[in-house]
Amino acid sequence: MNAISLYAKPSADFEAKIVESVALLRGAAQEFAPITQASSLGAEDMVVTDLLHRFQMQSGIFVLETGKLHAETLDLLERLQSHYGREVEIYRPVAEAATAFVAENGEEAMYRSLELRKACCHIRKMEPLERALAGKRGWITGLRREQSGARAEVELIEEQAERVKINPLANWTWGDVWHYIATHQVPYNPLHDQFFPSIGCAPCTRAVTLGEDFRSGRWWWEQESAKECGLHVDGAVSSIIPIRAIA
Ligand code: ADX
Ligand code: SF4
Repeated sequence: MNAISLYAKPSADFEAKIVESVALLRGAAQEFAPITQASSLGAEDMVVTDLLHRFQMQSGIFVLETGKLHAETLDLLERLQSHYGREVEIYRPVAEAATAFVAENGEEAMYRSLELRKACCHIRKMEPLERALAGKRGWITGLRREQSGARAEVELIEEQAERVKINPLANWTWGDVWHYIATHQVPYNPLHDQFFPSIGCAPCTRAVTLGEDFRSGRWWWEQESAKECGLHVDGAVSSIIPIRAIA
């Protein structure tokens, strides 16, 4: 069994969702240039990259390479670049900050307290994210409402202080994502074949078992409410792309 045979199952309105996502991305690429895609190289992000490529939309792609990603994820980064024939921008933590944090707190600090875990995420994700988004008017994510209770309200377009955040798959199901991957032969992380639905850094991600929540393998030792690394904590919502841009 692989992830495609396990999960691919389109919704009845799958084709309409694609039309909507493409229109949204196209409008956003025009209205909010320069725009960039934040890719964790997870299944959703691979779908978004494929849509950007197939419909020839002008958008950067960046990966926050935390220094703690799985070998399979790093391998997919290479495969993505050769499959689509394009460069992905890679943002790494400031080396001195990451080294000093480990020297002071150890390699397993994230398990000891929420504060240390958040400090690690700050050094390895949040600060590099700031650099990745500097000068950008929009960014594109693979967030879906179905992923967790905290994400149930994710909108297609969210207005943030300095830019807009576009979530083109907000209303896609997990079955839609895998149907798209199967149909368009999108490269994907083999960890998805091993029951890793949501993939982050290696120390903070594990496989899930049958019946467990989608994100239960992320920061599994923490309370459900704490389980965000900070990339997606705010969410002032508005529909600020004029209808003509997404029609
Ligand atoms: S997280 O906040 O818990 O880490 P998650 O892994 O669900 O987020 O991913 C949600 C979205 O955040 C992804 O679709 C992607 O847009 C962005 N994202 C997460 N991790 C990264 C990363 N390492 N590099 C770039 N974007 C990322
Ligand atoms: Fe550090 Fe884990 Fe956060 Fe990655 S997910 S930055 S390893 S605490």
